[in-house]
Amino acid sequence: MLKKQQSKLVVANWKMHGCLTSNDVLLHAFTQRAVTLEPQVRLAVCVPYPYLAQAQNRLTSTSIEYGVQDVSAHTHGAYTGEVAASMVAEFGATLAIVGHSERRIFHMESSELVAAKAQRALESGITPIICVGETLDERQAGKTNSIVYTQLAAVLDRLDDEADVARLIVAYEPFWAIGTGQIPAVQQIKQVYGAIRAQLMEKAVNIHVPLLYGGSLKPDNALELFSQSDIDGALIGAASLSAVDFLEISAAVSIALSENQDDSK
Ligand code: 13P
Repeated sequence: MLKKQQSKLVVANWKMHGCLTSNDVLLHAFTQRAVTLEPQVRLAVCVPYPYLAQAQNRLTSTSIEYGVQDVSAHTHGAYTGEVAASMVAEFGATLAIVGHSERRIFHMESSELVAAKAQRALESGITPIICVGETLDERQAGKTNSIVYTQLAAVLDRLDDEADVARLIVAYEPFWAIGTGQIPAVQQIKQVYGAIRAQLMEKAVNIHVPLLYGGSLKPDNALELFSQSDIDGALIGAASLSAVDFLEISAAVSIALSENQDDSK
């Protein structure tokens, strides 16, 4: 039997936003809120590298996890501008987004490169959040499942140990939904999730890899999405830069979890 997680993970992806002062305001609001949430609602923040020490400083003694938005595919060496997963781990980070579509598309990152990054993260004890998703053209051409399959396969092919698969998080983020206000229908998300689940089952039958959703998630659509028991959480971009929005989204997770519990009684 596949073990289903009862918790949901809400990850703020701050992208290239923030400054020391505005970060402090947001982190203060997040930590104030986190103490009021049930332990099944996991909050995390993925910050730009320079703010990792700030995140460590503000979040170490809280329940909020933190991490980064990318890591190098290399362990160390003459790679100017790159940041190794082991360096990030030194700051107590536990998460690293890899393969975000903004890196795949704007920085031409291949699925093989993303897979190497995921492996470096795992080696350093960091959980990689593997982003997968199609462009609008790919969706319209009926290629969504094959694109997502290929992106994820590159990562899975590198992992021989089921224990490593168990440490992955996968985020389905259709590129056309990011920052556009357009959001797939729940049925469309479920259809992609079904395909991802089947692919993961081929690799590791008894492992429940959390599947997040990302793309234009806001307070007004959060409850509908989080109420789906197969959506294990979300990656939030723009709305994570507003304390009010991010906290409303976390509240929606709480409500959805309590509704799911009621349904399963
Ligand atoms: P938005 O929430 O701004 O659409 O961004 C989603 C995203 O890219 C999260 O990684």
